Amino acid sequence: MPEVKKRDNWGSRLGIIMAVAGSAIGLGNFLRFPAKAAANGGGAFMIPYFISLFLLGIPLMWIEWTLGRYGGGFGHGTAPGIFHSLWQKNRFIKYFGVIGIFGPLVIFIYYLFIESWTLAYSFFALTGKYTALMDQNSLRSFLAGFQGLERNQYFNSIGTAYIFFLLTFLLNIWVIYYGIKGGIEKFCKLALPLLFIFGLVLIIRVMTMGTPDLSKPDWNVLAGFGFLWNPDFSALKSAKVWLEAAGQIFFTLSVGIGVILTYASYLKKADDVVLSGLTAAATNEVAEVIFGASIIIPAAFVFFGPVDIKSIAQSGVFNLGFVTMPLVLNKLPLSAILGFLWFFLLFLAGVTSSVSLAQPAVAFLEDEFNINRKRAVTIFGIAAFVLCQPAVFFLGRGVVNELDFWGGTFFLVVFATIETVLFVWVFGMEQAWDEIHKGSQMSVPKVYKFIIKYITPLFLFIILGMWFIQEWLPIIMMKNVSIADKPFVFCTRLGLLFIFVILAVLVKIAWRRKRVG
Ligand code: ALA
Repeated sequence: MPEVKKRDNWGSRLGIIMAVAGSAIGLGNFLRFPAKAAANGGGAFMIPYFISLFLLGIPLMWIEWTLGRYGGGFGHGTAPGIFHSLWQKNRFIKYFGVIGIFGPLVIFIYYLFIESWTLAYSFFALTGKYTALMDQNSLRSFLAGFQGLERNQYFNSIGTAYIFFLLTFLLNIWVIYYGIKGGIEKFCKLALPLLFIFGLVLIIRVMTMGTPDLSKPDWNVLAGFGFLWNPDFSALKSAKVWLEAAGQIFFTLSVGIGVILTYASYLKKADDVVLSGLTAAATNEVAEVIFGASIIIPAAFVFFGPVDIKSIAQSGVFNLGFVTMPLVLNKLPLSAILGFLWFFLLFLAGVTSSVSLAQPAVAFLEDEFNINRKRAVTIFGIAAFVLCQPAVFFLGRGVVNELDFWGGTFFLVVFATIETVLFVWVFGMEQAWDEIHKGSQMSVPKVYKFIIKYITPLFLFIILGMWFIQEWLPIIMMKNVSIADKPFVFCTRLGLLFIFVILAVLVKIAWRRKRVG
């Protein structure tokens, strides 16, 4: 084995669990999940969701923790090096690993802007900037003005949003600048408990909302929960519901992205991954199905009723978080505090995720180019800052949707399929099973040997196949993009291709230097 240079590491086991849980718990839990669940018929969504959790989410979590720790032993913290360590004879496999740096970078460049809105809205809540707005249209126009999509009586430029974007960007860079133990771990240990406390206060408030409109006794919190939790088995027949549920599992657990590989690469050889991985996944699920499901949907149900909740959810994630939720909170006493708790909770959830999305690119520079952390973070900061600009300035032109499709949806499944096949079929299931259990404090139930070997890859191939059949052509042909937005979406695709090629060339250079060196 080659000599491995000293890398950063986690300060404690709790630290890495908090960091992985922090990566997983994000805007996805509190905004994307309720929007997806409500848009896919509530109870209809939860069955495929849980099936995907047990057959995809949990196995992938274990695979990534194990592969990350394994690659870290060779001094690699990102997929190109980890895949290469796994299959040294194959010269091309490292290029497949590029997706594990590309994916998180692409998510980072749009996620950060959305995250910055939550900081801005926390500030607006406290200063009462939107408190007087009492209907959907006013709050929608407030949001559009803030995002720079229109000029109106609330905002006459994107300036305010840009200041909050800069603040959020600098905070992220500051956290990663201090490294794994000194930055990310410290921040997550503080942010995660705070986030849970804020969430608890909001849940209690929602639970005690009663029935504000006595003429509509059915519009109550319990019925809101019923909407989400009453199972609807007919949904199992809908391919779309399956795809949405599986996609949500990927996004929320941060699996298939590449970030868990990187975080786990800072573990030591004998550190447990089975219990730690499960604990991080379970923490995320508590945050999602208990906290995420108990705030927006039941609260919106009480105020808008069983019919409108569906159209509200269809109006998208941003509408739910930045229009519906402030509207509901505005109608309650202490709305400034509640609004602050809601948006700052989102902000904390966002930062603990976005720092994890930044780390693979930083780790790649450090590990494969021997650049020290501070320089690596500086290079990353400059590049990411430039790359974020289209998401900020062309939000309304379909750029963010496009980035979310490739970075936050499609490549996750592709990457997960590659790493599963490598783990199970190239590394070999027997060796893989031993590797998972090194230093483990519990055994993975035997049935998972079968699930990981056959069911998870089969499930992944089915998802990919269904995508190709149902969505490939309309997506490539930009069927759902307006004529005016087509040039922007096309340029976004070219930009993504450019980023991918640059990363692949960097991999080539890094390996050539190693051979020469
Ligand atoms: N897992 C992160 C989220 O849910 C990316 O937002």
